[in-house]
Amino acid sequence: MLFNKKTLFSFAALLSNLTNIQAQEAAAPADSAVIKLTKDTFADFIQENPLFLAEFFAPWCGHCKHLAPEYVKAAAELEDKNIPLVQIDCTEEQELCMEYEIPGYPSLKVFKNNDPKNTKDYQGARSAESIVSYMIKESLPAVQQVGTDSELQDIVQNATQPVIVDSGVKGLNATFYDVAAKLSSDYTFISYVTSNKTVAKDLSLYLPSEDTPIVFNGDLNKLAKNATQLQEWLKVEALPYFGEIDGSVFQTYVESDIPLAYFFYTSDEEKSKYTEFFTELGKKYRGSLNFVGLDSRKYGRHAENLNMKEQFPLFAIHDMKKNLKYGLPQLAEEKFDQLKDTISIETKDISRLVENFVKGKANAIVKSEPEPEVQESNVFKLVGTTHDKIVSDKKKDVLVKYYAPWCGHCKRLAPIYEELADVYASDKKASSKVLIAEVDATANDISDLNIEGYPTIILYPAGKNAEPVTFTSQRTLDGFLKFLKENGSNRVDGESLYEKYAAAKKEAEEDEEDEEDLDHDEL
Ligand SMILES: *[C@@H]1O[C@H](CO)[C@@H](O)[C@H](O)[C@H]1NC(C)=O
Ligand SMILES: *[C@@H]1O[C@H](CO)[C@@H](O)[C@H](O)[C@H]1NC(C)=O
Ligand SMILES: *[C@@H]1O[C@H](CO)[C@@H](O)[C@H](O)[C@H]1NC(C)=O
Ligand SMILES: *[C@@H]1O[C@H](CO)[C@@H](O)[C@H](O)[C@H]1NC(C)=O
Ligand SMILES: *[C@@H]1O[C@H](CO)[C@@H](O)[C@H](O)[C@H]1NC(C)=O
Repeated sequence: MLFNKKTLFSFAALLSNLTNIQAQEAAAPADSAVIKLTKDTFADFIQENPLFLAEFFAPWCGHCKHLAPEYVKAAAELEDKNIPLVQIDCTEEQELCMEYEIPGYPSLKVFKNNDPKNTKDYQGARSAESIVSYMIKESLPAVQQVGTDSELQDIVQNATQPVIVDSGVKGLNATFYDVAAKLSSDYTFISYVTSNKTVAKDLSLYLPSEDTPIVFNGDLNKLAKNATQLQEWLKVEALPYFGEIDGSVFQTYVESDIPLAYFFYTSDEEKSKYTEFFTELGKKYRGSLNFVGLDSRKYGRHAENLNMKEQFPLFAIHDMKKNLKYGLPQLAEEKFDQLKDTISIETKDISRLVENFVKGKANAIVKSEPEPEVQESNVFKLVGTTHDKIVSDKKKDVLVKYYAPWCGHCKRLAPIYEELADVYASDKKASSKVLIAEVDATANDISDLNIEGYPTIILYPAGKNAEPVTFTSQRTLDGFLKFLKENGSNRVDGESLYEKYAAAKKEAEEDEEDEEDLDHDEL
C-alpha cells in the first residue's frame, strides 16, 4: 500500500465529525434503549442476538461523549426492528476489551450470526442516521430479491449506497452472489428477475440512477465467470459523476483507487451552479478521476489536508495513491481578506488543471519546510522539496529517518542517529558513499510513502534500480552499522570505521584533558 494511512484516517475522522451536538455523558442513560453489557452477560447476549452493534468506550473519552446522543437515538429507532445497540465500558471490562483488541475509543463492532469471533468494524459516520441505515442493511440478505418495478424503485429511492441490479442475466447469478457476500456493506445488491423484456434485455446488469442508468456494456458471458471484473466495474461505475462527500462515503472513494477532485462550495446555490459542469467532467474522466462536492461550511478544515488555504470556493485534486495534491492558485492572506465575498472560480481554469493532471503535466503542491541554508549537523536535514532528489542519488546509500517532533521514540533515537552520522562523516571516502538524513514527516509531504508509525527508517541504496529497504532491526548504533553494510549497495564497512572513529575521538578527548592539565600547570 502506497498511500499514507495516517493522513487518510485523519480525513475520515474529520469528515465523519458530522454534528456539533452538545457533549453529554459517554455512557447512555439507564432509561435509553442502549443495553449495558459486562463480561458475565456478553457471551449469552451473542447467542441470543443474531445481529447487534457494540460500542466499546471509556467514560472520559470526548468522542464517546459526542457519539452518545446519536447512539441513544439510533438504539431507539432500531429497537422495534430487533437490532440491539449495546455498550461496554472498557474501564470496567478490561478483559473483554483486551480480548477484542480495542485500539481506541469509541470502537464500534458489528456482531453477526451469533459468532463471537467474526466481527466487523463500523467505520461509517457517527450519526444516528448512518448507524440506523447501516444496521438495517446488515439485517438484510446480501442480495435482495425484488419482484416488481415499483418495489425496485422504492429501494433505489431509499438507498444511501449504490445499488446494482441483476435482471436475471444468464449464468451470472453465482458470481453476483459471490461478490455480494463480499461487498454487501458498501453496495445494495438486487436480483430482479422480470418478465419485462425491455428490462431483461437492455438493462441486464446496471446501476439505476436519477438520469440514465449505467449499464454494463462489456461481455456478459465473460463477466459471469469473473468476480474480479464485476468488482472492478462496480468500483469505477458505482460512484456518481459528481457526488457529495462526507464520512459515510469517503472510504468508498479511497477504495476506488482513483484520484479525487474536490469542489469546496460555500452555499447550495453555488453547488448547483457548478453541478452540470462537474457532472460532464465526471463523465469525461470516468475511471481516471472522481469528482465530489464538499460543503466548506461543515468540512472546510479538510482544505489543509490538501495543502490548500481555507479560501472558498476552492478546487483541488488528491492523488491518494501517490499522496500528491494539486489545486488552483490561491490568494495571499491580505488579498483574500479584501476580496473574500467576491471569490469565484472559473470553469475554464478547473478544466485546464484537470486536463494537465490527467496528462501528468500538473505541478503538485508540496508541503515543505524551507530548504536549510546550512546543514547544522552531520545528520542531513531533508525537506519536502529536496527529499526525492536526495534519496535518488545514484552514488550514495541514503538512510532516512522519518520522524515527528512529538514522538518519544524519535527523541530517544536522536543521539544514536547523530553518532551514526558522525561515524560516516569522519571518513572522506565513506562520506561520499553514505548519507545519514532525516525529515520531519509532519511538516513535509513525501509522496509514495506509507508511514505506519514514527520513526520510520528507510534505506535508499545507491544504484539505478535498487529498491528501498525498511530498517526493522534494533535501533542501536551497531544495528545501523550492520544494516548499512549488508543492505547498502556500497557495502561500506561501518564497524571498522567506528573503531577508527572511536579511537580518534578518545585521543581527541585525552588531548583536551592534557591541554586542560597544561592550563593548570601554567596557572
Ligand atoms: C422507503 O422509505 C419509506 C419512507 O421512509 C418507507 O415507508 C419505505 O418502507 C422504505 N422502503 C424500503 C424498501 O426500505
Ligand atoms: C441465485 O443464487 C442463489 C444463491 O445460490 C439462489 O438462492 C437463487 O435461487 C439463485 N437465483 C436464480 C435466479 O438462479
Ligand atoms: C418495462 O420496464 C421499462 C423500464 O423500466 C418501463 O419503462 C416499462 O413501462 C416496463 N413495461 C412494463 C410492461 O411494465
Ligand atoms: C478477470 O478480470 C480481471 C479484471 O478485469 C482480469 O485481470 C483477469 O485476468 C480476469 N480473469 C480471467 C480468468 O479472465
Ligand atoms: C537487511 O535487510 C533485510 C530486509 O529488511 C533484513 O531482514 C536484514 O536483517 C537486514 N540486515 C541487517 C544486518 O540488518
